[in-house]
Amino acid sequence: MKDYDKVSRYKRIIGQLDELIPKTDNLISRFATTCALLHYKIPYFFWTGFYLLQNEKLLVGPYQGPLACQELEKNKGVCWNAINNRKTVIVPDVHKFPGHIACDSRSNSEIAVPIFNKNQYIIGVLDIDSKSLNSFDEIDMENLEKIISLLEKDTV
Ligand code: SME
Repeated sequence: MKDYDKVSRYKRIIGQLDELIPKTDNLISRFATTCALLHYKIPYFFWTGFYLLQNEKLLVGPYQGPLACQELEKNKGVCWNAINNRKTVIVPDVHKFPGHIACDSRSNSEIAVPIFNKNQYIIGVLDIDSKSLNSFDEIDMENLEKIISLLEKDTV
């Protein structure tokens, strides 16, 4: 996808989320809405979803795409890396990422964005897989981080 197309597509998605998110203060409903919107609006998103931290475990939350692992082994793989380093991870080729957890062998590149609550605790990650190599760049990172920041707004 061309940079220009990516930017305008994210812009439209963020516009839609601005309207949809305030309709509920329930975080799980917001996560479900967000991954459905992203998954069906961005063609290279093959698996789009959330992993949520609960009692030190990283468990699958709302998602769109093929069946995924329910629990990710602690401190292993891309999602735990984003959590432990408290920053977004872009993986151009998952086969070269040490400890990568392959929930579906068709995935080739990935991005994981940590989700912070109001007290700066990490509550999970937004994780997206693509079937192509090198799908994710700074444009994805910037826009997905922006989307994550919308989700926490005015939650109870
Ligand atoms: N690849 C991830 C696991 C989740 S799936 O991609 C849906 C990881 O290494 O943490």
